[in-house]
Amino acid sequence: MNVLVTGGAGYIGSHTAKLLRSLGHTPIVLDNLSNGWPEWARFGPLVFGDIRDEETVFRALEAFKVEAVIHFAAKAYVEESTRLPEQYFDNNVGGTIAILKAMQRASVARLVFSSSCAVYGKARTPTMAEDHPKQPANPYGLSKWQCEQIIAEVAPVIGLRYAALRYFNVVGNDPEGEIYERHEPETHVLPNLMKAAQTGGPFTLFGTSHATPDGTAIRDYVYVLDLARAHIQALEVLEQRPSLISNVGLGHGVSVRELVGTVERALKLQVNVVEQPIRAGDPPRLVADNRYLQTWFRHDFADLDQVVRELADTPPYRRPGLVS
Ligand SMILES: NC(=O)c1ccc[n+]([C@@H]2O[C@H](COP(=O)([O-])OP(=O)(O)OC[C@H]3O[C@@H](n4cnc5c(N)ncnc54)[C@H](O)[C@@H]3O)[C@@H](O)[C@H]2O)c1
Repeated sequence: MNVLVTGGAGYIGSHTAKLLRSLGHTPIVLDNLSNGWPEWARFGPLVFGDIRDEETVFRALEAFKVEAVIHFAAKAYVEESTRLPEQYFDNNVGGTIAILKAMQRASVARLVFSSSCAVYGKARTPTMAEDHPKQPANPYGLSKWQCEQIIAEVAPVIGLRYAALRYFNVVGNDPEGEIYERHEPETHVLPNLMKAAQTGGPFTLFGTSHATPDGTAIRDYVYVLDLARAHIQALEVLEQRPSLISNVGLGHGVSVRELVGTVERALKLQVNVVEQPIRAGDPPRLVADNRYLQTWFRHDFADLDQVVRELADTPPYRRPGLVS
């Protein structure tokens, strides 16, 4: 299958492109490299361009005889979205509309959209199912929710089958070390923790007074390759039905303090933790109810201990003699 992977030079997109290629598909990456790396778009052709440019998307769909689109490209910094909301709506919502129009023109009928647990906002229940109320707490989450709603309206009209996958916190890297999580700036907890452990630099732990057992925030961490596999399976599910809206998470939460302990054990290093107050808008607990996921995605998820142990033993974190 020829699959257009928007944002395929970024973290999750490049891992998905690599997996697609290893399964015999051809990933065609469309990326403007605003937050991606050209050297990671090496698992198939790279189209350098912007998703907001309908003509560019259309030409890529036609030129490569694309059969399905996996749409990762987005601006995805929560804090930045509160300062530059218009850019988030322009890029994420405007880009998604342009993709829908180009897909209609090119008669490409399957789309998997990167959504997020950020569509839910503050959790009202210990785990959040797909029907949990949607009250995004920031423009980033709102942009994802708006995209989902637009896709749901447009899809039946233009004959599009679609999946919206709401991921929780994505972690881990390619076990072969060819590609890895690399954002600049890096705001995600695990890469920052790994780096702090290895350099001896400070790890800033935001929030120790949450209403959680150890006071730190609880999140649901899903391994990037399991997530990549879920996208490919979602494309298969869409052969049987018109839509699929699903969380992707493990269904159990891990606190930041527990995560620190996991990293210290895996690297056999002490982390220099510097505690800071809770960041505005940082909810205490975000954990998936993944019962629906288990009905269509039959796959064992890597647990966090496993992911961290493997991370410690692959580039860019591996250091000779550090791990047994
Ligand atoms: N990383 C997570 O934990 C997480 C959790 C939930 C949802 N998501 C979603 O998953 C997707 C991928 O996340 P990621 O962590 O890989 O992000 P990333 O920033 O590493 O990758 C996004 C890619 O999209 C590209 N891009 C952005 N705007 C573009 C545009 N207008 N035209 C073309 N390319 C553009 C960037 O250059 C980058 O390569 C995003 O949609 C994000 O919202 C991520």
